[in-house]
Amino acid sequence: MLSHEGKKAVITGGTGTIGLAMAELLLARGADVILTGRDEGRMRDARTRLGSPAAHVVRFDATSMDDIDTLGALVQRVFGQLDAVFVNHGVFEPEQLLERVTEASYDRHFAINTKGAYFTVRRLAPLVRDGGAIILMTAAHDLGYPGTSVYSGSKEALRGFAKVFAAEFLPRRIRVNCVAPGYVESTTANPDLPEEYRAEFERRGAETTPLGRAGTAEEVAAAALFLAFDATFTTGAELLVDGGISRCALDAPTPRSGPKGEGRAECPPGREPFSRDGPARRT
Ligand SMILES: NC(=O)c1ccc[n+]([C@@H]2O[C@H](COP(=O)([O-])OP(=O)(O)OC[C@H]3O[C@@H](n4cnc5c(N)ncnc54)[C@H](OP(=O)(O)O)[C@@H]3O)[C@@H](O)[C@H]2O)c1
Repeated sequence: MLSHEGKKAVITGGTGTIGLAMAELLLARGADVILTGRDEGRMRDARTRLGSPAAHVVRFDATSMDDIDTLGALVQRVFGQLDAVFVNHGVFEPEQLLERVTEASYDRHFAINTKGAYFTVRRLAPLVRDGGAIILMTAAHDLGYPGTSVYSGSKEALRGFAKVFAAEFLPRRIRVNCVAPGYVESTTANPDLPEEYRAEFERRGAETTPLGRAGTAEEVAAAALFLAFDATFTTGAELLVDGGISRCALDAPTPRSGPKGEGRAECPPGREPFSRDGPARRT
């Protein structure tokens, strides 16, 4: 028997890169999944790629309270009860230095990432079985990255929601946790972002991530499933999936370092040092 046989899950933003990786992993482990998208082309691609009767791809816009309610009704009709909800949908618009942020962009981020997540949880939580799980997709933003104030704020709110939801759902033993990705390869494949931005994102991801590379959507998916199904003593927490960027200093001298950096901690096998040409920059 597969490890998640008979489990039922919803993934919002399931047609995106990370959402699709979560859907593939859930299906491979025997679960049934309802995943949502907005763009018809991406929804079609997801259906083709997943190619499974256990995957239901449905249209859903998190800014619409009607869509949220319709999703709830559909989940109730198709699944009845849920084991896990992954509130994963989100948008990120780059180049948002404070003086350039428009009201429209601010409203979009908060309508989709924050309000949309909040009311999705409110609609779907009653369908989660006692002892089930809710996962919110945040972002590894312990450090302040210039140009991301609106996105960062819209995701920070989810951490606050998760803590309070976790406390409120204690009587039903529903665990609520967050997954916080750092640089993930998927962004470099997002055609909505300017090519120049994607190249810079890729370069910075490799240069500034202590583990020396951007993460993959599959690594984020594995962490999300871990929280949903295996982390049975964890609630109200945020799991960083960020290659160490929030916790590990890159250039601090280590006790083994000599004055010119000789003896610096070695890279893991198979990885090249990534700051040979000078100190790695943090954004
Ligand atoms: N990639 C990273 O480096 C990274 C880092 C930290 C956090 N994250 C977070 O991880 C999550 C997934 O990111 P990703 O990289 O997989 O992004 P992605 O490929 O752009 O996927 C985003 C998903 O959200 C959906 N979506 C967008 N606007 C929506 C709306 N108004 N209502 C409902 N769904 C909507 C998209 O659907 P359509 O395409 O059909 O609009 C898509 O399915 C996001 O919350 C993101 O903020 C990503």
